[in-house]
Amino acid sequence: MMTDAPEVPVIAVDGPSGVGKGTLARALVQRLHWHYLESGALYRALGLLAERRGVALDDARGLAQLAAGLELLFADGAVWLDGEELGDSIRTEAAGRRASQIAPLPAVRAALLRWQRRCARPPGLVADGRDMGSVVFPSAACKIFLTASAEARAMRRFKQLREKGFNVNIARLLRDIRERDWRDSKRSVSPLKRAGDAFELDTTGLSADEVMAVVFKRVEQTWPLLKRG
Ligand code: C5P
Repeated sequence: MMTDAPEVPVIAVDGPSGVGKGTLARALVQRLHWHYLESGALYRALGLLAERRGVALDDARGLAQLAAGLELLFADGAVWLDGEELGDSIRTEAAGRRASQIAPLPAVRAALLRWQRRCARPPGLVADGRDMGSVVFPSAACKIFLTASAEARAMRRFKQLREKGFNVNIARLLRDIRERDWRDSKRSVSPLKRAGDAFELDTTGLSADEVMAVVFKRVEQTWPLLKRG
């Protein structure tokens, strides 16, 4: 069996759409100066590439081929595909829906697994997604699983997208979130599921700073000698 890299410290942050994984992961990265893997962006970028190349979202073989050659780079908070900064084109709800349509395909997940594991490099990695703690980095020393009500997540997404200038409808967002929750938790491969050894935190009534404070305590308990940035 292929193993992940246990010698590199990994913080796995998992949870459903709009729960604040990205906000927490970025705060951790900023504090620790570790690498960042935003796995959702991988699926989003692959969906975008498929659309551009005319590969159907149910063409498992075609998508796996695209995934195997994916030239994706995360740098300075931006995502680059084949040298092009993707910007907000992967942040729309349509891009999220496309990602969750291709994500259940085993061939796609297998093709992206190696890519994701290569991101575990010193001094450490913060990885966010749905299966970071359960499948991609099962031996991560620190696993966080965030939850929040669908309504709270829809409201957060609403504010986020509005700030970016998108014209969004809260009822539609809530429906999208529920649909994606359903798809992400019901699929047979890597469904959204808390790893048995993950620390679960309900963020419904918490601010981003409060979430970070609770999680950072866990991180310090995990690595007491941690050098902070
Ligand atoms: O996290 P984000 O909303 O960007 O993810 C978009 C979609 O990609 C999710 O709804 C999910 O279907 C898929 N995904 C996944 N596994 C991950 C990250 C994202 O299946 N590790």
